[in-house]
Amino acid sequence: MANNKLVINPWKSIDVKDYNKLMKDFGIKKINPKNLPDNLYFRRGIIFGEKSLNLITVALEKNKPFVMMTGLMPSGKFHFGHKIIADLMIYFQQLGAECYIAVADVEAYLTRGIPLDKSRELAINEYLINYIALGLKPEKTKFYFQSEGAIDYMNLSKYVSKKTTYNELKSIYGEITPEKIISAFTQVADILHPQLSSYGGPKPIVVPVGVDQLPHINLTRDIAGRMKSDYKFIPPSAIFTKLMPGLKGDKMSSSDPYSYIALSEDPKEAAKKIKKHAFSGGQATIEEHRKKGGNPDIDVAFQMLLFGLEPDDKKLQQIYNDYKSGKLLSGELKQITIDKMTTFLTEHQKKRVKAQAQVKKFMAKV
Ligand code: TRP
Repeated sequence: MANNKLVINPWKSIDVKDYNKLMKDFGIKKINPKNLPDNLYFRRGIIFGEKSLNLITVALEKNKPFVMMTGLMPSGKFHFGHKIIADLMIYFQQLGAECYIAVADVEAYLTRGIPLDKSRELAINEYLINYIALGLKPEKTKFYFQSEGAIDYMNLSKYVSKKTTYNELKSIYGEITPEKIISAFTQVADILHPQLSSYGGPKPIVVPVGVDQLPHINLTRDIAGRMKSDYKFIPPSAIFTKLMPGLKGDKMSSSDPYSYIALSEDPKEAAKKIKKHAFSGGQATIEEHRKKGGNPDIDVAFQMLLFGLEPDDKKLQQIYNDYKSGKLLSGELKQITIDKMTTFLTEHQKKRVKAQAQVKKFMAKV
């Protein structure tokens, strides 16, 4: 493009090199963790930016109702990259948000050819089970399928078409197809429908998403503004997460099992994957490593600790320093991560078994 502005394609996995440029190009504000109750992802810059998050902090201060809305693309195993959004749903739920979670089964069918029954199976047995095991509660939660939404939601997904143009869609998404247009409109309705009068009317909504979903957020915010006179919609707030690196140091993808660790993975298998496949920021030999030190910023074992496996900031900083100075070797760092991972997976998998009994409570709400 002439002005070199990035176009993000939300249907392709993206690899962001320069978050600062991205924030500038797309008007994303840097997050200020001081305005929010403590959370590891905010503290560590894993949530790096936001749009009108102040509406949510004000609602929190004044004890006013607000909504957390997000969606999931049921494309395969639930892995550590997905866990970030799940933890954020739970964070906002614990702060009092009403939660809307859309299973993007229509989008998965239109853009990836995944049959609806397959989506349903994955959404429940992979996503929902893990959400419950991580702490999501059924109270004030609407877990719904795009293909089964209520009539007001369905109609909204059509009416939004009147508030945009083909050229606008092209400039937001780049290449566009009928399937992508319908998927985008469905997502706009996902995000805005909690403000319809049948759902209690206008209120602030926060949408936690991976940065790849940014174009949908921008379209939704613009359309919300244009529907203001009819619906009094408040443009939704959003927070954007960095994308977790895959095991090999590049992209994490559900279609490549050696790029991720699933939350249902056998801990021994996970340990093997980390040992064998996790990209190391260490030096080629021990002598060299002791002399030059490692690079934690590109070391995947370290990144796993950073993304949450080591919740203690002080300990994390110590590991960072020791690795950088060469005191801590690559194999030793991997062992720290493997131990943490083993404990996490073992505990979590017990919770997954218990979670099974709760699924019904979420289904009853649809
Ligand atoms: N498009 C999202 C994805 O690919 C899924 C999604 C559907 C979503 N509806 C949403 C995300 C509403 C946020 C809000 O993962």
